[in-house]
Amino acid sequence: MMMRTHRCGELSRRHVGQTVTINGWVQRRRDHGNVIFIDVRDRQGLTQIVFNPEISPAAHQQAHVLRGEFVVAVTGTVALRPDGSANPNLATGEIEVLVQTVEILNEAKTPPFLIEDEGEVTEALRLKHRYLDLRRPKMQRLLRLRHEVMQEARAFLNGQDFLEVETPMLTKSTPEGARDYLVPSRVNPGCFYALPQSPQLFKQILMVSGVDRYYQIARCFRDEDLRNDRQPEFTQIDLELSFIDREQVMVLMEQMIRQIFQATAGVELPTPFPRMAYAEAMGRYGSDKPDLRFGMPLHDLQDFASKTEFKVFRETLAKGGMVKAIVVKGGAEISRSRIDALGETAKGFGAKGLAWVKIMGDGQLESVIAKFLDARSLLAAVPDAQTDDLLLFVADKPKVVHDVLGRLRLLLAEERNLIDQKAWRPLWVVDFPMLEHDEALKRYVAIHHPFTAPLDEDLPLLETDPLKVRAKAYDLVMNGSELGGGSIRIHRREVQSKVFDLLGIGKDEAVSKFGFLLEALEYGAPPHGGIAFGLDRLIMLLGGADSIRDVIAFPKTQKAQCPMTDAPSHVGPEQLKDLSIKLDLIE
Ligand code: AMO
Ligand code: AMP
Repeated sequence: MMMRTHRCGELSRRHVGQTVTINGWVQRRRDHGNVIFIDVRDRQGLTQIVFNPEISPAAHQQAHVLRGEFVVAVTGTVALRPDGSANPNLATGEIEVLVQTVEILNEAKTPPFLIEDEGEVTEALRLKHRYLDLRRPKMQRLLRLRHEVMQEARAFLNGQDFLEVETPMLTKSTPEGARDYLVPSRVNPGCFYALPQSPQLFKQILMVSGVDRYYQIARCFRDEDLRNDRQPEFTQIDLELSFIDREQVMVLMEQMIRQIFQATAGVELPTPFPRMAYAEAMGRYGSDKPDLRFGMPLHDLQDFASKTEFKVFRETLAKGGMVKAIVVKGGAEISRSRIDALGETAKGFGAKGLAWVKIMGDGQLESVIAKFLDARSLLAAVPDAQTDDLLLFVADKPKVVHDVLGRLRLLLAEERNLIDQKAWRPLWVVDFPMLEHDEALKRYVAIHHPFTAPLDEDLPLLETDPLKVRAKAYDLVMNGSELGGGSIRIHRREVQSKVFDLLGIGKDEAVSKFGFLLEALEYGAPPHGGIAFGLDRLIMLLGGADSIRDVIAFPKTQKAQCPMTDAPSHVGPEQLKDLSIKLDLIE
């Protein structure tokens, strides 16, 4: 085989006159009378090669059998393209290689889709032939970006004295709130390992071990409903530090994220990242991961609503609920049928209805509920509302109001092009409540996880008003996406036990699930805390990918399947017998 002297993206004007060899895949072929042009592709780019019978009749003869995706080794001379035929969009667009010899290293069947084509190929087909899909430039770019981000994260953390330590894949359940993937143990019949939902417990143990600063680019497994930004197995940049406080973790992590954005995408992020308390994020944006690339905040209309004659508003307030509104700038032009459709959407999000008001000329209100409302006091209550705007109101329990208006805010910003697509708006969300009440389970559950420490000043509230206790937790949000989350941990056994009590985790359950951590906490656990970033989500943002599947080499579909390998699949009776398992599937 003729070994390459250069890569396909490398040749330029400087190489003119040199004899070179390139290896790669046949991309496009154009026959111009007697002369045949082919693009040869490798990971780096494309080189145009020219088969001219006057230069090499033998090679020209062979060129006729070359088909898309054949693997070739080509030797020839680099020449400038003739005047007017340079391609400024291609790194190698000024030159071509005049072929002397061509060697076919392997043939290829006709691929089910064009590799150079970024257009409409169904995802099912792409995933089935992922090896072809990954040849596409867009996918190569994302694979490279992922590699660069990982290297940059490692470089930063190594420079800050972190040790990279691997933690087990075959382990016990870690409480991150999803279902576990289980693996049966052959030598312990009837026993199962859980694949880790995160390295949380092990990284805390590593702090007790004196590792001081740990990181891992860790694979995590969560059996949960999949979405465009969720995979059943995904990767975290996971870390933990001893003898630190929340402030230090956030400052250090900002440096890392800034360095990653700078080095891999040339993006300068602001410094410091702004911070927002959870209560403000929910109250103003209806979300714990607000997208700050546009405004449209939620307005609290408690006073205004209590003075109106509109029954829905007054009754909601009387029951302890709230009334909030968003202002859609210039939204008075939105048609009645579109507003009705928004109302249906709001109901789909859990609202009982969506009241609306258009502000017309002279401050007149147009609305089916206009007769109940006083225009002047409405405009006073919502200072950013003006003529030509549309106001959308939801009256309900705070959770519903925030969720529905928060989602409508995002939907309308998208629909009305209010999002500055070039902007980068990082945000730390802090002071999360430690607990929330799960109505289905009828008990408190941890918002982050049960090892998160309460704010010192809120400790007494653990006894009296647990829902008011705020946690030493922090989430890093970027453009409305949750990139990472972490917390300072509880390092004292007695506080941990109290929290387990509150969560309704009994002593026996605590010992059977996390006994090893509780015991470790009794042997001199240092104060510690950490964070984990979703690597896949980070790449999605940096690379402008719409789907998490585009940033993972071999992802799963929404049904948690891999169309290429056909996983998961049935196993034979022998294998089950080895595991002492008899299947009796429940319908
Ligand atoms: P958490 O559960 O918030 O925290 O996860 C951290 C980050 O991981 C990403 N992520 C996911 N990405 C893709 N697919 C998923 N299914 C998925 N689930 C989570 C998110 C998220 O912000 N042990 C704690 C961290 C800590 O406290 O240090 C943890 O796992 O970007
Ligand atoms: P009704 O008086 O029930 O006909 O409702 C009048 C308007 O108020 C309709 O546009 C409803 O969508 C809206 N509406 C009803 N309930 C609520 C609610 N809880 N919050 C906001 N708007 C509501």
